[in-house]
Formats: sequence, structure tokens, C-alpha cells
Amino acid sequence: MPTNKPKGTEDLIGNDALTWAYMRDVAEQVFTPYGYAPIEVPMFEQADVFVHGIGTSTDVVRKEMFTVLSPDGYAKVSQGRAAELKADQRLALRPEGTAGTVRAAIEHNLVPQGAAPAKLWYAGSMFRAERPQKGRLREFHQIGVECLGASDPAADAEVIIMFMRFVEALGIDAASVRLLLNSMGDDACRPAYRDAVSAYINAHADELCEECRRRADTNPLRAFDCKNEHCHEVMEGAPKISDALCPECREHYQAVKAYLDAQGIAYIEDPRLVRGLDYYTRTVFEVQVIDGLGSQNAIGGGGRYDKLFETAGGKPTCGLGFAAGFERLVLAMQACGAPLPQAICPDVYVALADPSCASQAFALVQQLRDCGFIVEADRQGRSLKSQFKQADKFQAPVVAVIGPDELAAGGVKLRDMGTHDERVVALDQAAAELAGLLGLEESDECGCGCGHEHGHGACDCGHEHDGQPCECGCDR
Ligand code: HAM
Repeated sequence: MPTNKPKGTEDLIGNDALTWAYMRDVAEQVFTPYGYAPIEVPMFEQADVFVHGIGTSTDVVRKEMFTVLSPDGYAKVSQGRAAELKADQRLALRPEGTAGTVRAAIEHNLVPQGAAPAKLWYAGSMFRAERPQKGRLREFHQIGVECLGASDPAADAEVIIMFMRFVEALGIDAASVRLLLNSMGDDACRPAYRDAVSAYINAHADELCEECRRRADTNPLRAFDCKNEHCHEVMEGAPKISDALCPECREHYQAVKAYLDAQGIAYIEDPRLVRGLDYYTRTVFEVQVIDGLGSQNAIGGGGRYDKLFETAGGKPTCGLGFAAGFERLVLAMQACGAPLPQAICPDVYVALADPSCASQAFALVQQLRDCGFIVEADRQGRSLKSQFKQADKFQAPVVAVIGPDELAAGGVKLRDMGTHDERVVALDQAAAELAGLLGLEESDECGCGCGHEHGHGACDCGHEHDGQPCECGCDR
């Protein structure tokens, strides 16, 4: 009996897999000029990395972590001896990338004293046992960045700008998203604020859901995120963090906003933006799609976590970053008609007219691929007619037919599938002739518009050399 994929997971096949690869490429192009280098951390860690990093009272840790057991760990659990599991036997699939990246940064001392910040980006699967729905999966993909060791508010602004550039580079229309911004304060001002919110919840207990009432003691700020419409209205009246920030946090927040303003980055200040992970201090932000994604409208979010290193057993080191969800970004791209990668068509289909010429056809396929062409050929013993049908299906613009007649006439027959023109060309000329048919011939005219004939392809030096010798080094 065939088995289906687990609930809340997706197979990335064909264009979906191409889109994931494309998104990673775009991320790399956007993040590299900001000095970010890739990092890969394990898909599972000791559960404590997430429990301590993300916070015991968060939904992610309380309800959504997938536990991983080694065989010896499993044996203990199945014998009712779970309490005997050692820390390295209590493993969990990563629900996000920040806690693991910080664990790696501590373990490998990536931010030694006095060094420049470590700027890292990652792309990969994350796992949360949530109720699946549109834009919410149990295995989803994130692209994220972490900037470790920078306290300056310019770093916050830079990370936010980089996120917006990434969204823009994916073709998501700026008008279709909004950037929400808040400061969550720090150890100096947040405890008093938490107490004030807790007192507010207790004072309005009869108007709030059971979960929010429970949050009064465990994590009162999470009540701002309650999906219950009525709780949302009641929490509108709760004290605002913006009124409770200490002077240092206020100054930091003002500076972040000033940097964003100077760069013309539009944002909405949302004093109730608290995010679902406990490690944040000061700046938090989220990018939401304005229409079409329903309640799962956050395409990404992040913020500063200046205490996470210490929580994870490291030296005091500030950090900040963001992560964006691949699946939601794709929905946003589709909603605004952004181009998505399509399957690549071959340049040429090499058709074998007679099995006696199989070795010459095989050699031609390799020769054309070595010249950089995308080549398809039959590997199922099809008739010539059915090879042409398959070439059509592949949308190959040219079919190269090789058989006894073509070899006797001197080479291979190239058929332009658009015009139906055919000509036999020598085997060693096949690549050049194919380039001509595909319109890839080198132009003699200088691409810069100076009118010079360069004879070896368009000049792409970008210089203005109106009537002057070309400075591109091509000896013109
Ligand atoms: P997060 O807000 O939990 O932040 O997740 C970031 C993004 O991942 C979300 O905005 C959403 O697009 C996507 N996402 C989250 N859960 C799901 C899901 N179940 N299905 C589909 N997409 C989902 C973090 O993970 C932080 N680590 C971000 C960060 C990095 N903060 C600082 N550095």
C-alpha cells in the first residue's frame, strides 16, 4: 500500500523546486553585498537549544516542537523512563533558525571579542506541529539572516532594509505589503511593562479567553497576539510599550526610525507587535501582505535578541535578524503577478533516425552539451516520429536528426521547429550552426552604440567612447 506524505508537508516538484532554488539565489544576490555569508546548522538540535532560546511559555516550545529520539532514547521512553533521558538524547527538529545559529556561534566562537559582527544567512526546512492551513505547514522553508555582535541601531535599520530589498527583488509590489515596527524594550523596562499588562489582563479577566487569562502569569505580552476577536478588542486598551520604554531603549528606537526615514522606508508603528518568540529585545518588525493571505499574512519577521547569547550559555553578545517564509512569499508573488521560474526548455533535441548511428548521436549530444547547450535525446528506444513528438513536448526549438542518410550527406540535419527549415551541416560545425539558429551568434557591432565593429562580440565595457578608441581592453 503506497504511503502519502505526512500532514502539513509538501513535495517540492518541478516549478516549485525551481522556485525554492530561485528564491535562495535571489537571497544570496541581495544579502552578499551586505557582507552576509551562508551558514548551515543541523535540522535537529538538543531540545534545550530551543526550549531555553525560544522560551518555555511560547506556543512554539509548548505545543509545536517535534521531538526526535535516538534508538536508545526511544527505548527509555517506551519503557516509561523518559525522565532518565540525558540532554543529548532529548532532541527536537528545528522550529526556526535563530536558536541553532546562536548555538553554533557560541560553539565555534564566531564573534570573538573585538571582532567585526558575524553576518550569516541560511535557507532550509523548519518544523512546527501546527494545524495545517493555507500558508501554514508543519514542514516549511525559511530564508533568514542573523547579524551577531552589532548593537548600533544602524544595524537594525540595515537588516530591515535588506529584508525589504529581498521582497522587492522577488517582484513583490511594495504597495502590497506593510512593514510593522515596534520596540519591546529590554531588561531595564520590560519587566515593569509585563507587570502592567498582567495587571490589565487580571482586571479584564472576565472579558478575555481562558488562554489569555492563563497568559497573565506565564507570558502576558502574548495576549496581544490572541486570535480571538474579542480579546483583541479588549487588549486594545492595554498599556502600550511605547509609553513604557526606558530612555536608552527609546533613543535606540528613535535612531532606527530615523535611519529608515532617511532611506524612505515606509513603516507602521505597532505598539502591540510582540512576536511569538521570547528572545526579542528592543526592535521587532514584521512584513505582512495587505490582502489575500488571511490570518497567515506575515511573510516574515524578526528583531533584536541582545540576551539570547547569555541565555544559551555564551558571553554577552547582541544579535538581530529576520526570517521569511518561502511558502508565504510564493503566495505573495503569485498574488501580485511576480515572475516565477519556469521549467527550462532544451535548446535542441537530438533525434536518432536509425540505431546503427547511436554512437555518433551519443557523441553529438555530449559535444553540444560541452558547448553549453541544453540537450535532450531519446533514451527509451522511440521511433523517429515519436522522438519528434517528444521534442515538441519539450518545446525544443531545434531538432538535430542523425542517421545513415545525414551521415552520408556529411553530418547532421538541423530542423528549425518554428520555420520547418532544414539543412545538413558538418558534425564539427553543428554547435556553431545551432548557435546561429538559436540567434546566439556573436554580433560584430559594439553593444554600446558607438558603431564600432569589434568582430568578436558586443562590447560590454559600459564606457562612453563615442568615436574614441574603446577602453574595454579589446584593442579597438
Ligand atoms: P517567525 O515569525 O516565527 O520568526 O517566522 C518567520 C516566518 O516564517 C513567518 O513570518 C512565516 O512567513 C514563516 N512561518 C512561520 N511558521 C510557519 C508555518 N507553520 N508555515 C509556513 N510558514 C511559516 C522566526 O522564525 C525567527 N527565527 C525570525 C528571526 C530571525 N528573528 C531574528 N532572527
